[in-house]
Amino acid sequence: MSDRSSQRPILMFDSGVGGLTVLREARVLMPDRRFVYVADDAAFPYGAWEEPALKEHILTLFGKLLDRLQPAISVIACNTASTLVIDALRDKFPGHPFVGTVPAIKPAAERTRSGLVSVLATPGTVKRQYTRDLISKWAQKCHVRLVGSDRLAGLAEIYMRQGFVDEEAVRAEIAPCFLEREGNRTDIVVLACTHYPFLVNRMRKTAPWPVDWIDPAEAIARRAMSLLEPVGETSSESEPDLAVFTSGKVDFATRRLIQGFGLSAR
Ligand code: DGL
Repeated sequence: MSDRSSQRPILMFDSGVGGLTVLREARVLMPDRRFVYVADDAAFPYGAWEEPALKEHILTLFGKLLDRLQPAISVIACNTASTLVIDALRDKFPGHPFVGTVPAIKPAAERTRSGLVSVLATPGTVKRQYTRDLISKWAQKCHVRLVGSDRLAGLAEIYMRQGFVDEEAVRAEIAPCFLEREGNRTDIVVLACTHYPFLVNRMRKTAPWPVDWIDPAEAIARRAMSLLEPVGETSSESEPDLAVFTSGKVDFATRRLIQGFGLSAR
């Protein structure tokens, strides 16, 4: 890759602020890269959309984003989107590399000792054939419980802006992840929505017993890095990292949040 193209940004995409959990890891691994964070907040939450409409929506939006932002690579930092549209994105934009985020079922199946694993995700991700296929491919010897949460992504959005989270709501949303069977207990919960790592301390606090919470953010960032050539000379005048919100509305709390992540709103 030429110096110029290595200065093209990495596009991080999510329906809201959840993809910042992936950006955070990507920054650590690739401090010299430029990033553009895109939150499709006009369409949040993706978890509640019907599949055909969401697919169409994301494909159309990406046509515009790739034209406008000219990224070197796009990271779909959203399980709800990736499990639906990652193959279609690769088909529609064959010259452009995409990194997806899909439920970390394989590492969970490798790590569990009790054989009881839960996948905590949006209702959309839980319904996907893609998720079911991951279970049949990698976790046949485990009992995998799929837990769809209507509220957690929204709670994370509020928490990140206002610093407040309703702990009782978190407790209720994660409760179905905890299963006891024949003397065994769930020992792994896969965080299969990029918003959830922001709430993991509250999840630990309200969980009925300790488990490993798998957050795939670092693995996704590593995958993106593996697809990129090393950066050439970086200019001291390089542009700041941007955040784009599809609603066009960036209130005070959102602006403060993204500034904390080193992004300026556009
Ligand atoms: N952050 C998204 C994910 O990883 C989903 C949030 C939403 O429902 O829009 O699945």
